[in-house]
Amino acid sequence: MTKLNESRWWIMNQKELEQLVIKNKSYCSEGQNAHYIPALAKVNPNQLGITLYNIKTRDMLSAGESSVKFAIESISKVPALLLAIEDNGLSNVLNHINTEATGFSFNSPLNMEINHDKHPLNPFVNIGAIETTSLIQGSSPDDCYSRLLSFIKEICHDNTISLNEEIYQSEAKTGDINRSLAYYLKGNNMLSKEVEGVLEVYFKQCSLNVTTENIAMMASVLANKGIKPWDNKRLISEESATLVKSVMTTAGLYDESGEFSAHVGIPGKSGVGGGLMGVSPNQFGIGVFSPPLDKSGNSLAGVRLLKDVVTKLHLNIF
Ligand code: DON
Repeated sequence: MTKLNESRWWIMNQKELEQLVIKNKSYCSEGQNAHYIPALAKVNPNQLGITLYNIKTRDMLSAGESSVKFAIESISKVPALLLAIEDNGLSNVLNHINTEATGFSFNSPLNMEINHDKHPLNPFVNIGAIETTSLIQGSSPDDCYSRLLSFIKEICHDNTISLNEEIYQSEAKTGDINRSLAYYLKGNNMLSKEVEGVLEVYFKQCSLNVTTENIAMMASVLANKGIKPWDNKRLISEESATLVKSVMTTAGLYDESGEFSAHVGIPGKSGVGGGLMGVSPNQFGIGVFSPPLDKSGNSLAGVRLLKDVVTKLHLNIF
């Protein structure tokens, strides 16, 4: 992987990206770290970092806290969905989970109850993500987790990605709403595996430590229609990459997805660890990090920084 060659970034250079980080850093004080997972509340809130990976030139451009490790949280719902699709085929996955936007918060049981066909509304709200994780193949929860971890290492192009044990313990200890969602699925015959085993994989996938560089690489595979830009090898089908980008567009930022599409205008996926993934089709993979969240659970400074970058580079897909 080559680092930035300024002459090839015709619209933005390192200094300009750094200036956008400085401009948006003050928004860190307007949000709040996630508190319902106690280990996330302890993370330094005054952080903002970004990485862009150019799929054509393979250059990487970063600014701010781009190599700080943070919990991937709900961004892990993207690779989990991709692996479930690789394992089962797209139509089988869609027999279990809808692709409908939801106006409810990410951990609401209404994301299922509102729909009478016994399907979670989409794979990015918690109830849909727990269902998705249950579809990952493996002989045991350990096996499913290790297959998912290998897949995440590959799509992020980083073999060192590992579990943040403190976050995992914190998630598992305070995860009663997720337990209720999983038992709801089980009680409605939607979960073919045992609840605690599925949740163990789900809590672990959310607790992986990543950087904005990792997220940018993952986004670049989606931007490049399923082909890893760094070695030109296909990792996922184009059909799967397309489906996931479209669900990111309508549901990647929960009940703020409409605002995000209207004002930022690229497929995105957030996590309560403060991470934000942006996909600029055929151009860039983008990873952003800033822990304080807005009321919907999305990175406040992160969304603003991404909006500025998208505007500056004219990346809005609409
Ligand atoms: O299950 C949870 O609530 C967390 N592990 C992940 C939620 C999340 O990241 C929502 N994103 N904005």
